[in-house]
Amino acid sequence: MESNKPKKKKKRTNSKTKKQTKPTPKTETKQEKSEWGKTKTEQQEKLEPINFQNKDKIHPLTKQKFSKNYFEILETREQLPITAQKENFVKLLEENQVIILTGETGSGKTTQIPQYILEAGYSYGGKYRICCTQPRRVAALSVATRVSEEMDVELGSEVGYTIRFEDKSSPETLVKYLTDGMLLREAMIDNNLSQYSVIIIDEAHERTISTDILFGLLKQLLTTTRKDDLKVIVMSATIEHKLFQEYFNNAPHLDVTGRVYPVDIFYLEEGENDYVSGVIKTSVEIHLSEPKGDVLIFLTGQEEIEDCCERLYWRLCDSKSSEIGEFEIIPLYAALPYYEQKKAFMPTPDDKITTLQNGEKKTLYGRKFIIATNIAETSLTIQGIVYVIDPGFSKQKVFDPKKRVESLLVSPISRASANQRKGRAGRTQSGKCFRLYTKKTFEQLERQTIPELLRSNLGPVLLNMKKMGIINLLMFDYLSPPSIDLLVRALETNHYLGGLDEDGELTELGHQISSFPLDPQLAKMLIKSQQYDCCDEILTIVAMLSTPNCFIRPRKRRKQADQARARFIDCNSDHLTLLNVYNEYFTIQKNQKNQWCKQNFINNRTMYQAVNIRKQLFNILRRLDLYRKSYNDYSKNQSLIELKIKKCLVEGFFMQTAYKLKRKKYLIVRDKQQVLVYPGSSIQFFRDWILFHEFVLTERNYIRTCTSIEGQWLVDIAPHYYETSKFSNGRVKSALESLHRQRKSAMEKFKKKKMKKGENATG
Ligand code: CDP
Ligand code: MG
Repeated sequence: MESNKPKKKKKRTNSKTKKQTKPTPKTETKQEKSEWGKTKTEQQEKLEPINFQNKDKIHPLTKQKFSKNYFEILETREQLPITAQKENFVKLLEENQVIILTGETGSGKTTQIPQYILEAGYSYGGKYRICCTQPRRVAALSVATRVSEEMDVELGSEVGYTIRFEDKSSPETLVKYLTDGMLLREAMIDNNLSQYSVIIIDEAHERTISTDILFGLLKQLLTTTRKDDLKVIVMSATIEHKLFQEYFNNAPHLDVTGRVYPVDIFYLEEGENDYVSGVIKTSVEIHLSEPKGDVLIFLTGQEEIEDCCERLYWRLCDSKSSEIGEFEIIPLYAALPYYEQKKAFMPTPDDKITTLQNGEKKTLYGRKFIIATNIAETSLTIQGIVYVIDPGFSKQKVFDPKKRVESLLVSPISRASANQRKGRAGRTQSGKCFRLYTKKTFEQLERQTIPELLRSNLGPVLLNMKKMGIINLLMFDYLSPPSIDLLVRALETNHYLGGLDEDGELTELGHQISSFPLDPQLAKMLIKSQQYDCCDEILTIVAMLSTPNCFIRPRKRRKQADQARARFIDCNSDHLTLLNVYNEYFTIQKNQKNQWCKQNFINNRTMYQAVNIRKQLFNILRRLDLYRKSYNDYSKNQSLIELKIKKCLVEGFFMQTAYKLKRKKYLIVRDKQQVLVYPGSSIQFFRDWILFHEFVLTERNYIRTCTSIEGQWLVDIAPHYYETSKFSNGRVKSALESLHRQRKSAMEKFKKKKMKKGENATG
């Protein structure tokens, strides 16, 4: 991201730094700040440990007295399984450039390892940083918060985080948590990642696209420009370490798992279709009859989780007649505001003692039910979990290169995932795992989750790889190479979009596109918006598309919510509907915004984010000298600007269009898939051609966030994509042929007119 260029780190002015001599620069190139590169032993002489446990109890970085909280947390830190391996790890780090580290979730890898590295002196007196990647924004944020507390420093100073559209780090930052995607973006600006002395790739087993590409990139750096001054640590849950070891030239492996307790597994006798009901039933049973311990439930997404929370709440309330323990039901998913997520870490409700009719005393256990997405599988650790309920599904990205559509699909998890989930029950004592499927189903699951790189649209990441200096995408050293088909598709779509030229090299537009932390289509829309004189409006639309859905629709107040929403609706465009929401929100006074959101059933956090994102996109656009204030005032010239906005949408999304069959039923252009317009869409007039932002695969195929367009714009704006020779016979082809004919005759008319004018002028 733009605010995140490698910063020349301010030299810390503590006595320790003064004592250290600056390592002699290796090469004095302008961009590379890689300043050491001595032989290993020489280098280590320069390391001076940062002593956190000095007898004066003075903080070595802030020079203040440690707070009471510091010592309290220190005690719990010392009990983490990883503590026993600290010396082992530091020694291994001294002797090796790459280490593979595994350990059960909760062993202390993510929070402790960066601190060990820092204490061992690898910031070289504050000149270099240590970073640790996370696949999820939430995890980066929450772990950075935790570590800043553990280190007794302010978040954003010595410990910081960077996630897309949010940078909480500063020149002082020594330990930085960031999403793997953000580290990739940093690599686009500084190919050598030279601000870092140690790079930790965490949650490596998740095999996200960004993590996989980072592997290739780091391996390349380790063998070329940063042969001896970069250290890489690959951390993961207890799986797959051999694969990583082999990839990194037999790097040593260290496992830090401490004690794990046995977990009993219970399967269903017969498969169950409605797993949410199964979850509720099992939860109630646990609460009524199982001993003390909190429950962790894995579901697939926000809506399902919220729905389940509500149903479980009422079910438990209903059974209150038979006196039950206190309970707390806590949802946990990425889109939830951080303060809501924190609730998962709050203490469990107290137990109650009740007297039975026969005079006996009975304890009714207080219990937490945490209903989470995959987020809780490995990246967040919650204490006190004794019971896990696992329906066996998660939302996964799937991409069909032939059809060119990518979607998040609820899919069965892998055995490795199921075992991770199970493991969450055995951290502090023995536990139970209820699998809401049969043993046979378990045995038929895939062994490992398939890496994202092998099942995603590589279009967005391809331009970034180019920008990182990876010349030959086919020959890149992938941990698991994607199919040629996927790569070719990605090259092709970027070529159509104009980001790559015939030879697969970045065009000027391609460079511009990759400056935005956005999908290429969205970036292209922004870049083109000046030509259509609608920069301000497109900025807003892109910002709104980069946040979660802004409309709230609570179960019990759906009617009111829909009425409130009706005011914003544009019957031809979901994009314009979003613009309407933002524009009105913007006019509301600051201190009334929250109230306005509540009244209108709008998620105020989404709006807040959208404002922030818009600001950042605006800065990038201006920096590239591509911003011009919209000439026409939207409120006065609405229909004119709307036309321009829609054409600009086509500039980015001409590859995501559909042709009408009947009413809401459309045919996706190019791959002939039948789809329906998503039920929640604002669109009420279904015209022949429609453009969509997203393809959603559920029990039916839907397109979501749509805008009606004119077919003529397609052949005008993207004639190369809409060449009729590229289509097989059928409705779409005939429609296009007629559009091309119209275009041709219009152009001829235009030419004639022009010539006539010319004659008149000279005559
Ligand atoms: O990375 P790994 O799963 O091995 O463990 P971790 O994330 O470093 O967590 C170690 C311990 O730190 C957990 O057991 C929690 O007690 C604590 N922790 C926390 O309190 N709050 C967080 N946001 C993260 C960790
Ligand atoms: Mg971790």
